[in-house]
Amino acid sequence: MLNIAVLVSGGGTNLQVLLDAQAYGEIVSGRISLVLSSKDGVYALERATQASVKTAVLAKQKDETPAQYGQKLITELLANDIDMVVLAGFMLILDECFIKAYEGRILNIHPSLIPAFCGEGFYGLRVHRAALERGVKLTGATVHIVNEIPDGGPILAQKAIEVLDGDTPEILQQRVMEQAEWILLPRETEKLAASLTKLR
Ligand code: GAR
Repeated sequence: MLNIAVLVSGGGTNLQVLLDAQAYGEIVSGRISLVLSSKDGVYALERATQASVKTAVLAKQKDETPAQYGQKLITELLANDIDMVVLAGFMLILDECFIKAYEGRILNIHPSLIPAFCGEGFYGLRVHRAALERGVKLTGATVHIVNEIPDGGPILAQKAIEVLDGDTPEILQQRVMEQAEWILLPRETEKLAASLTKLR
């Protein structure tokens, strides 16, 4: 069975959906065996503990280069026999060394229709704020394979969501999560795990 690590930095609603999908038998080609957070004290860690999944915290130190952080991440994941990685609200940009080590085996969920509102500086509520400021009528979510270009890897799935009059960044974020992210992420996680299992 493939070991999956979910990398988080915050509340972890996407993590929760993955844990639920595993509990309901919607993710069967791998098991979530580690939740790693870039921040201590975030609620995502509590969600993992409640689901009896091992947790780890790996914060980036101020004097640490992205490559040094990437190496520490590789060491932690290899020590836990991790085969596949899901970025579920992970707010650090990953170094090339890490992406190479897990090439084709890292998924990311991004809260817009890539190539709109993506890349460096676009994360979390900032994405929805930018979409509202630009006045787009459609936004959504994208699941993609991670490569060395931030939010630039091959797209696996997208779902469009209408922007409505009166939307605030918070309201829009919630709708995009409920109607797009939480549907796409478990589905694509299972699909990638199944295809990686076949390659073994
Ligand atoms: C989600 O909307 C996710 O798509 C986004 O952060 C939020 C995390 O929420 N990720 C990014 O912006 C990454 N570029 P969660 O912690 O409740 O899953």
